[in-house]
Amino acid sequence: MKNFISLLPKVELHLHIEGTLEPELMLQLAQRNNIDIPFNSIEEVKNAYNFSNLQSFLDIYYQGANVLIHQQDFFDLTWAYLLRCKQDNVLHTEIFFDPQTHTARGISFDTVINGIHRALEQAKVELGISSQLIMCFLRHLDEQSAFETLAQAQPHQDKIIAVGLDSSELGNPAGKFERVFKQAISQGFLTVAHAGEEGPASSIHEALELLQISRIDHGVRCVDDPELVEQLIKARTPLTVCPLSNLKLKVFAQMEQHNIVELLRKGLCVTINSDDPSYFGGYMTDNFLAVTNAHEVSKAEAAQFTFNAIEASFISDSEKERLNTATQNYLQLHQ
Ligand code: HPA
Ligand code: ZN
Repeated sequence: MKNFISLLPKVELHLHIEGTLEPELMLQLAQRNNIDIPFNSIEEVKNAYNFSNLQSFLDIYYQGANVLIHQQDFFDLTWAYLLRCKQDNVLHTEIFFDPQTHTARGISFDTVINGIHRALEQAKVELGISSQLIMCFLRHLDEQSAFETLAQAQPHQDKIIAVGLDSSELGNPAGKFERVFKQAISQGFLTVAHAGEEGPASSIHEALELLQISRIDHGVRCVDDPELVEQLIKARTPLTVCPLSNLKLKVFAQMEQHNIVELLRKGLCVTINSDDPSYFGGYMTDNFLAVTNAHEVSKAEAAQFTFNAIEASFISDSEKERLNTATQNYLQLHQ
């Protein structure tokens, strides 16, 4: 199974580029940019990655991002992630970035997106990996700041497929961003949102109704509302689930208790993703293996996570067909 999972074609739909900052690169960039960080070694950084909930992670995650200053830093960050994608046979990835984490520190929107975008373009040519970019609003900040960010994105609309919503879910309901999302939709952006990670099933309802989202990021708390589960099955609303993240942030106490396989068997369009792999202990293959080690899963079921991700992705039908064929061929050859 391990070999089968390693080489299985994969599509990632829930990945924060800032969450791919490995301790090695963090220290390197801190030195290169003369930034003070409270860590002197890789071990010290790793020891700080001990989280009790989402907020305790976010505090460290925003601190880590302080070392990203120049366009080249954003390029290096993104390129390192794309090389990991290649190792894990990720054929397509849809990447979140958090502009406000950087613009609040005086880094321009252009610096951030141009660095990331240059790496994505290079990956298309040199690694054969396709991608989309999703711009997230930080939900702990106010509506005004989100509107300003949307305005900054205007000259780059050709590089951004969708807007999303991340950061602290508790106390920051989706409704706070209803008007920003309406405007984004009117400008042609698709929408997604983190919901039902720490928040209750009702927060998923709210995100679906008020923000018109095409996918739910996380969404694992949907099981608390059987009617909602039925609705998600019927509509084939995708859930971008992040198993190792859920474990690290104590959404589930143990992987054996994670509900992703149960959701898959109910017929939900669930997918496997890495969220913030540097902080949560693993990239795509690690996340697949964490699930298949803790649960009895057939090869066809493991491949179904990829078929679901292809279905849920923001790519053309012909691209979907190409990825489906590659995955079907792989499954047939390795059954
Ligand atoms: N949830 C909310 N905000 C985030 C996450 C997450 O899992 N990762 C990075 N920002
Ligand atoms: Zn996330």
